[in-house]
Amino acid sequence: MATQNNFTSAVRSKRARRMTLAMAFILVSALILPTTGYLFPDLQLTAQAQQATGDANTRSDFWRVVREGGAGYSSVTGSATNLETNTLYNITGQNWRQIRNGLIANYGGWFLFLVLLAIIAFYSLRGRIELDQPESGVRVARWTFWERSLHWYTATLFIALSITGLSLLFGRVLLIPLLGPEGFSFWAGISINIHNTAGPFFAIGPLLMFIFWLRHNIPNATDVAWFFKGGGIVGRQHPSAGKANGGEKVWFWIVILLGLGAVCFSGFALIGWVQEYFGVEFTRAYAQLMHVVHAACALLWIAIFIGHVYIGTIGSAGSLDAMTKGHVSAEWAKQHHDIWYEEVKDADTQAQSGSTMEGETTA
Ligand code: HEM
Repeated sequence: MATQNNFTSAVRSKRARRMTLAMAFILVSALILPTTGYLFPDLQLTAQAQQATGDANTRSDFWRVVREGGAGYSSVTGSATNLETNTLYNITGQNWRQIRNGLIANYGGWFLFLVLLAIIAFYSLRGRIELDQPESGVRVARWTFWERSLHWYTATLFIALSITGLSLLFGRVLLIPLLGPEGFSFWAGISINIHNTAGPFFAIGPLLMFIFWLRHNIPNATDVAWFFKGGGIVGRQHPSAGKANGGEKVWFWIVILLGLGAVCFSGFALIGWVQEYFGVEFTRAYAQLMHVVHAACALLWIAIFIGHVYIGTIGSAGSLDAMTKGHVSAEWAKQHHDIWYEEVKDADTQAQSGSTMEGETTA
């Protein structure tokens, strides 16, 4: 029995020794193998020489040329301006994907989130801008029924386009976990259809705003002073303003330049029938550029739109009446648009005497 025990423990210690040796061997090899290049100085010199002359690997040279979009022969036919023609590998697709998925979808999402947080933080610190004087009941007409219809037509389509556009941009990350791949695929199909159909109708809104509201929105020295005084939003002053104040004029020009000029333009440029009508050659590079401009500018526009909605609703007492009822209290008019109020306060009398002034007061 004793001999058997001695035999077993001898076998065990032998195995343990072997395992320790094997482990040590693996460890030493793992440390030494990567440095074997240094043990063969000749090989190292050859590699360095190859690196210096740039001919390290003929296959990497080949793929370098391919990635640079170098000209060659391919069976893809097309015009000379089309980047696909005689190009084996179209690098623009990869670049576009990196910009779309990285810069725009990733940072754009965070940007919108931070804008929302900033507005919440501002509201918690500043609170609502209240009226200094209690309302007397005297009302001043501000936007006509037609102007309000134009505003809400534009706003409704803007919201529909934002929801569908954001769903397409952030859907993979935000909606697939919620709806699952099938649910998202269904919603994405609906979104793209709503987006492409509503887009052209929406563009009519900013276009008409430009035509009808340009006269209120020509910048002047009063607007500069309005900004220097914090627009009555930062601080407690009430800087002077005409029908549109400095902030509203900036929003108006954002709607026209960033909205109509960049977002609507690039959106139109991506629609098939528009390209056909204007004879635009639809290359991948063209589609990628227009898509990046469209998505990046739309995100910026949505961020500023959130600010517009904030100040038009919970940010300032009495402002929403202007666009819902069409009239505001005389106290609101005096506090936020004093120059305009002076112009229109007697409109009632002037309207009766046949004047064309647009404002009117109702007690
Ligand atoms: C839910 C969304 C929206 C709300 C609550 C809202 C609210 C308002 C309010 C209350 C006003 C009147 C301000 C005043 O009389 O001083 C206004 C004006 C205006 N809104 Fe909106 N709005 C919304 C969406 C939009 C959208 C999507 C656009 C354009 C794309 C837009 C463009 C304008 C313009 C251009 C003005 C007139 C400013 C000027 O003449 O300079 N709004 N909005």
